Amino acid sequence: SGFLSVLRNGLSKLGVPTELLDFLSKWNNVSEGQPKIPEAKGAMKAIGGQAFFIPLYELYLTYGGIFRLTFGPKSFLIVSDPSIAKHILRENSKAYSKGILAEILDFVMGKGLIPADGEIWRVRRRAIVPALHQKYVTAMISLFGQATERLCKKLDAAASDGEDVEMESFFSRLTLDIIGKAVFNYDFDSLTNDTGIVEAVYTVLREAEDRSVAPIPFWEIPIWKDISPRQRKVSAALKLINDTLDDLIAICKRMVEQEELQFHEEYMNEQDPSILHFLLASGDDVSSKQLRDDLMTMLIAGHETSAAVLTWTFYLLSTEPSVMSKLQNEVDSVLGDRFPTIDDMKKLKYATRVINESLRLYPQPPVLIRRSLEDDMLGGYPIKRGEDIFISVWNLHRCPDHWVEADKFNPERWPLDGPNPNEINQDFSYLPFGGGPRKCVGDMFASFETVVALSMLVRRFNFQIAVGAPPVEMTTGATIHTTEGLKMTVTRRTKPPIIPTLVTSVVKGDDSSPLKEPS
Ligand code: HEM
Repeated sequence: SGFLSVLRNGLSKLGVPTELLDFLSKWNNVSEGQPKIPEAKGAMKAIGGQAFFIPLYELYLTYGGIFRLTFGPKSFLIVSDPSIAKHILRENSKAYSKGILAEILDFVMGKGLIPADGEIWRVRRRAIVPALHQKYVTAMISLFGQATERLCKKLDAAASDGEDVEMESFFSRLTLDIIGKAVFNYDFDSLTNDTGIVEAVYTVLREAEDRSVAPIPFWEIPIWKDISPRQRKVSAALKLINDTLDDLIAICKRMVEQEELQFHEEYMNEQDPSILHFLLASGDDVSSKQLRDDLMTMLIAGHETSAAVLTWTFYLLSTEPSVMSKLQNEVDSVLGDRFPTIDDMKKLKYATRVINESLRLYPQPPVLIRRSLEDDMLGGYPIKRGEDIFISVWNLHRCPDHWVEADKFNPERWPLDGPNPNEINQDFSYLPFGGGPRKCVGDMFASFETVVALSMLVRRFNFQIAVGAPPVEMTTGATIHTTEGLKMTVTRRTKPPIIPTLVTSVVKGDDSSPLKEPS
């Protein structure tokens, strides 16, 4: 096949049309007796309307672990087989790029760590990963606690007033507040504040999600960009966020200059443990657009994902009261009325299994996107360079051959004393944080964040789907959202009476925290 691709390149340079070359290579494949990837024909109609990853499940049951889906001139390979996923993500990862994803996200993430490929990605990954060291993650646990405590105050008020709450938007605000502090030491305070920068973040997020499901790239039409009110609003929002980031970088730079700096592996500034502070202290270039792109990438990567995990976890818990009471028992006995600490993360075993299982049923994002950079073999089929590929994590996580009662929310499927399930010990049948070199850098952060929030909330309150709430259905952008929110009735738990006491916090100087003095 090496010779054939050289031949193909040569012919293409001589001006032989691609269609003809494609035809010849297909004919060649058939003549060599190589199998052809199953094609889901007429599947286009099946896709219309719903979240696109849902009909892909039925197609997977019909066509198998790899098949081709064609939309007019465009075609995609849909992968739902663990060994093919492992090949693409880990064994031959250098032969795949982020493809369409990088194109769609360019306006907001630029060359940030998620879309970046090749050398830029290698250099930035090496700079960023060390920032999320053990000591940093430990410090973040008290940040998670403080932020969740603010949400508890909101829910307390709602419980007193007997008002139902829309939890999806509360979770989105909780995780925005957390990631702002964690990445660049900025307090969005979005649980109480809804204008300016918070609105700008949501404008940009919505745009990114709309673009990812748009049939044509309308934003590339030259004049449209300048006259469409919506595109102008997006530009203004981006400018506000970028200006804010530039200010935060400048403030942080001044802090770093005033420090008696001794940079080392577990370096952390106690006043400002943010990733930005670590990067500047490690010598990152402040003026670079790259730094801004990476901050923006982490803001988005760490915001909607965690929010979606919490939303679906609470939805799932509402369907299985027995899981909820088992969870509440664990939290009562491990935490009592304390704030969670790093040591509790090992002890909150069932809470961790609840999150593991929620990530199985609602993986965020439900599909991973790649493009082949060279010819390759996938599951015994030859593929060409330039194929757009969707790895359906949704399908992998719900495969009826692999999972017992695949659609059932059953945290017990993971033994409490067994290892924490991940893509390695589940051999790519379970990959909530991806796998291989492009695996999530925030996996530990996110696991602890969701366990802390979950534990603190269920310790204080009972949650039920509100009477008359709209049915909880799925729609998708980058993560799985509900179509009409998650409307819940929140009631205070009667036992035990909880008075929060603050364990020594390393995130100091947060005046807005209601927890300065334990009362
Ligand atoms: C990558 C999931 C939270 C930063 C990824 C990938 C997944 C993922 C599946 C792989 C994407 C791919 O291969 O195409 C999640 C989930 C989260 C979460 C489910 C929450 C529950 C976070 C947080 C941060 C973060 C909190 C930041 C602190 C990143 C970055 C990448 C990434 C920078 C790109 C890594 C690279 O390409 O080298 N995440 N993530 N994520 N995630 Fe997360």
